[in-house]
Amino acid sequence: MRTPSLALVLVAGIALTGAPDSARTDMAPKAPDPAIPDRSATFQPPAKEAIPPGPYGDMVKLGRDVFRETDKYARPFVGNALRCSNCHLDAGRLADSSPMWAAWVAFPAYRDKNHHVNTFQERLQGCFRFSMNGKAPPYGDKVLVALETYSAWLAQGAPVGANLPGRGYPRLKDPPLQPDYARGRIVYQQHCALCHGPDGAGQSAGGQVVFPPLWGANSYNWGAGMEGVNTAAAFIKANMPLGLGGTLSDQDAWDVALFVDSHERPQDPRFTGDVGETRRLFHNSRWSMYGQTVAGHVLGSGLTPAAQTGAQN
Ligand code: HEC
Ligand code: HEC
Repeated sequence: MRTPSLALVLVAGIALTGAPDSARTDMAPKAPDPAIPDRSATFQPPAKEAIPPGPYGDMVKLGRDVFRETDKYARPFVGNALRCSNCHLDAGRLADSSPMWAAWVAFPAYRDKNHHVNTFQERLQGCFRFSMNGKAPPYGDKVLVALETYSAWLAQGAPVGANLPGRGYPRLKDPPLQPDYARGRIVYQQHCALCHGPDGAGQSAGGQVVFPPLWGANSYNWGAGMEGVNTAAAFIKANMPLGLGGTLSDQDAWDVALFVDSHERPQDPRFTGDVGETRRLFHNSRWSMYGQTVAGHVLGSGLTPAAQTGAQN
């Protein structure tokens, strides 16, 4: 990882630490811009200042800490350099960034991913195993109880069972042109590399991850939702570049999502020992790059020494 400039540290300082939970949305330009998503009409979760004193509030607070500083508060279960809040922005509060209040009221739910009804705790376990490239905390573990309590607290007053506006990442229509690696690389260099690094490995300062990695050994693994080019495109369109969500064209979002997800990353923990078979079983989608050949490399066949250091691009 490279050392970021002071300006970038300041931007990220606002994003990642100290500032009030909703400070980040203020970074978007104030002038009316039809491209920037209007999130004012969506469900509004309570501010962290409203967390009550006492044992219940302590558990809510712990959940928020786990969510924002996962490496510190859930260390044994984390296998990469990511935090929950890197993909669920504003500590899991931001609409169109898969907010926890919308998730909470939607579980238990059937999931195609594992063909059964999942409780909320099991859904949380999934993000540890795949997005965090780690281990699922056991049922009832304090880490899961805290995350569940925090999510339920955020959702107070929301209708149970509703599919609330702002849930997940808003799906994009199929792109006008087939997503393209070469075009995606240009978008990446122009709009992303400044923060996430030219090699996708992110940037750290003083031992803290300031800009999270997008591929390589410290990123989400091949089993994660973000490895789907459609999911990554949806997240990126709504939320990136940080503070400028909605400003990329749909085509640019698709192209850069394909570029990001065409790089090597940690193996899918469901790997059977054979990339082709693992693709058939778990990546049977036109939007998964797993098992596809890019630049002479079969994705999913392992991190090369170059990809380990993030140098593959
Ligand atoms: C690399 C990005 C990433 C990280 C890190 C991450 N998630 Fe997720 N999470 C996703 C994606 C992608 C989805 C699926 C959203 C969709 O398909 O719209 C998701 C979905 C979820 C859902 C279900 C949302 C819903 O509405 O159904 C929950 C709950 C969740 N994540 C919790 C967590 C927690 C807790 C952590 C940290 C331990 C975490 N996530 C870390 C990317 C991430
Ligand atoms: C101004 C700096 C900045 C720019 C520019 C930027 N990002 Fe990000 N990005 C961040 C930060 C910071 C986070 C974590 C957000 C948080 O924790 O609140 C993030 C999170 C992400 C994530 C989810 C976490 C992960 O590491 O997988 C993805 C994917 C992502 N960015 C992709 C992109 C893409 C693609 C672009 C270019 C279109 C881009 N970003 C431009 C700063 C930036």
